[in-house]
Amino acid sequence: MSSLLVTGGAGFIGANFVHYWLRQHPDDRVVVLDALTYAGNLASLASASGNPAYRFVQGDIRDTTLVGSLLEKEAIDTIVHFAAESHVDRSISSPDAFIQTNMVGTYSLLEAARSHWLGGTAAGEHRFHHVSTDEVYGALGVEDPAFTEHTAYAPNSPYSASKAGSDHLVRAYHHTYGLQVTTSNCSNNYGPYQFPEKLIPLMIVNALDGKPMPVYGDGSNIRDWLYVEDHVRGIDMVIKQGAVGETYNIGGNEEHANLDIVSRLCASIDEIFAADDGLAGRFPHAPAASGTATSSLITLVKDRPGHDWRYAVDASRIQAELGFSPAHDFNSGLRNTVAWMLANEDWWRAILDDSYRSWIEDQYEKR
Ligand code: NAD
Ligand code: TYD
Repeated sequence: MSSLLVTGGAGFIGANFVHYWLRQHPDDRVVVLDALTYAGNLASLASASGNPAYRFVQGDIRDTTLVGSLLEKEAIDTIVHFAAESHVDRSISSPDAFIQTNMVGTYSLLEAARSHWLGGTAAGEHRFHHVSTDEVYGALGVEDPAFTEHTAYAPNSPYSASKAGSDHLVRAYHHTYGLQVTTSNCSNNYGPYQFPEKLIPLMIVNALDGKPMPVYGDGSNIRDWLYVEDHVRGIDMVIKQGAVGETYNIGGNEEHANLDIVSRLCASIDEIFAADDGLAGRFPHAPAASGTATSSLITLVKDRPGHDWRYAVDASRIQAELGFSPAHDFNSGLRNTVAWMLANEDWWRAILDDSYRSWIEDQYEKR
């Protein structure tokens, strides 16, 4: 039996991880520590709340005293560190929170872990798993090989630079103090509970509400997409079987240009509306409600400053050493995601209040 501290468990990937872990490892205890920033959402954890193996604590990862007391009282042997500021556009307009949470926060957490696990005479088995991103490797050109674990770090945005800094700190705490760490660097995730500021959920809610679907630049930028359930399963494999001190890339082997993704989503929404009469009544502002193509909403907008052109992950290490491969391809993952958004309108409506909408629109105007 293990006792996990999951930081950022009320966010997108963290919440998926918590549900996955409680299902797959029912004898374990899961304590979530989350500051509930704009991206943290207790509604994403609602179905875990009656489970005696689960506890939620609202708090900041920079609060070393709080973290220290949780490690002690809950006899934590595994930290799974998701908490971060995660949106590139926000890192461009307001980098400070990214430095604070991603770098200072990871440092504070490492210090609390070091003091708790390595402070006594004999260190027992423990694990600090750090969840990171492929964006630390920078941007690829069309002919470049995909990122491996040996690709040199070249972060380009305040977000990726702050994640790169946190990766280096985690590595240093292993090398210098012997903290038992692993790190995973994953490609772009999508799926249930993703905050509708990221590409895929934003496009779905805008399509349903008949709002413009803003594609940056010419829409040719490429990302490598992984369904979130595959990511959390990959993290489980790294925690259980990964070698201490090592890093593992996780990716979907699904490279797609943004405009292709948005066009695919539009076609899929048109088909779903055509097959289900009830949707026109629920979403009267959607073009698909009146038989107009959803793609009429696609709007090319000013590009993101410093926009990385292409990310692609070479996930052959985790595949060869730990037996990981994604269970969902991009088509089935997108279908699941649209279906989840349609079935969970209350979840995203609660986020899309007027202040959020005007914040998003303001961002495009400022460029
Ligand atoms: P998210 O923005 O949806 O969630 C982040 C969570 O962290 C929120 O619940 C927030 O309240 C919490 N948080 C923020 N600051 C905190 C603090 N100081 N103390 C405690 N909690 C705090 O992020 P996500 O998309 O779920 O990403 C999770 C992790 O995975 C991040 O570390 C991110 O860098 C990494 N990652 C994300 C992706 C992706 O596509 N989303 C891909 C690869 C890696
Ligand atoms: P995003 O979901 O923000 O993830 P990241 O920047 O971490 O890769 O964006 C994914 C891609 O989609 C990225 O190339 C930027 C682009 N994008 C748009 O074209 N329009 C949008 O409204 C958003 C949010 C992103």
